[in-house]
Amino acid sequence: MTTFNSISADILQQIESIAGETNTYTSHDDLERYSHDETEDLHYYPEVAVKPQNTEQVSALLKLCNEHNIPVTPRGAGTGLSGGALPVNGGLIISMESFNSIIQIDERNMQATVEPGVITEVFMNAVAEKGLLYPVDPASKGSCFIGGNVANCSGGPRVVKYGTIREYVLNLEVVLPSGEIIWTGANTLKYASGYNLTQLMIGSEGTLGIVTKIVVKLIPKPTLDVLMLASFVTNEQACGAVSAIFRTGIIPSTLEFMERKGVEWVIQHDAINFTLQDGINAYLLIEVDGNNQDIIFADCEKINTALEEFDCKDILFADSSAQKEELWTIRRTMGVSVKSNSIYKEEDTVVPRAELPALIKGIKEIGARYGFESVCYGHAGDGNLHVNIIKAGMSDEDWNTKLKDGIREIFQLTVSLGGTISGEHGIGLVQKEFMSIKYPDINLALMRGIKGVFDPKGILNPGKIF
Ligand code: LAC
Ligand code: ZN
Repeated sequence: MTTFNSISADILQQIESIAGETNTYTSHDDLERYSHDETEDLHYYPEVAVKPQNTEQVSALLKLCNEHNIPVTPRGAGTGLSGGALPVNGGLIISMESFNSIIQIDERNMQATVEPGVITEVFMNAVAEKGLLYPVDPASKGSCFIGGNVANCSGGPRVVKYGTIREYVLNLEVVLPSGEIIWTGANTLKYASGYNLTQLMIGSEGTLGIVTKIVVKLIPKPTLDVLMLASFVTNEQACGAVSAIFRTGIIPSTLEFMERKGVEWVIQHDAINFTLQDGINAYLLIEVDGNNQDIIFADCEKINTALEEFDCKDILFADSSAQKEELWTIRRTMGVSVKSNSIYKEEDTVVPRAELPALIKGIKEIGARYGFESVCYGHAGDGNLHVNIIKAGMSDEDWNTKLKDGIREIFQLTVSLGGTISGEHGIGLVQKEFMSIKYPDINLALMRGIKGVFDPKGILNPGKIF
């Protein structure tokens, strides 16, 4: 186990001479923005934050820190929800915010090469102008970086039809903790050439290397979509309808679940013009996309038949792009609204989708026993339910001590239903104590072994995942 050193005046000078004095931050005020991500209200200050300007500088910085046993926390936009970007051991933050160019959109091969600090939505819009789709759009697409999406294996609403970021990343330029620079794979749609280091990097949460270039696959952009909001009396009915929709033979392009409370809070927070009907407690936001209006309408008909079996009370078809935007705002801002309404904890459960009704029922039962409330929403089509635990009437003491056991029970339930403890937010800092619920020692030993090969001194994002 490496004993970490703090950053001496001499090392600071070397950091400044690598990346430039103006790209190096040391004052408490300047470091504030690097001391937190979007995880609860956690703050950890680094000793120094630096914004390298190119791959060679990242390499020199890592080499320096590796030699001197200085912990390094790589950072994207800081929108993470599991504390992956928190510098829990102090040390150096390497912020990738200057890596913000789209290097190439290769329309001939339907691929793009992009730097990790590009905002996901900026990239999506740039390829959309060429009639192409990059469909990995987490709720935070307007502010998160594509590099952070790679590090966390981010998802978002369209995963259900188009897959996670794993389906799109073809190749990565990575700086290893030693300072060596590698490409992990090839710019090809197939890869059967030894272990797949590209896939290993995806979801490694900045613990194995720092990504400096990303090559992604693009697909043709569908030209049409229909968006509907289906209302249900109970959570179980809405969740039950989810797997039934797929059994009709249709794969919607999004299939999102929202509990009434979440919708209420967004309406208050964002002053959105939306009327909640009495007796409705759960919603499904369903999008079907394609290029042929008749086929899309026929698909929607089939979906409606499935919804009726679960006593769906109403289906609202968004009839303008403004209304679509409004419905998507309700869904996408739910996490932020919950956070601004209450002290909360975010869990990111995922189960095989037909188990969703059992999952949500179990979560509510656990909450009733421990005295917490929860607002659940998320990517129901993937079986991925975000569980926002609300402090409500829980005493401070129970919140700080007993709640852990409640969360443990939620994860035990998730795993017993065939699921896992994070679908898309990662393990980071706040979920690592629950890893043993999902993994036997042998799995954890394999993961630690891989970490040791990449980062023998353990300088890169220490204190995360394990
Ligand atoms: C969402 C984020 C929290 O789906 O993953 O809103
Ligand atoms: Zn999500």
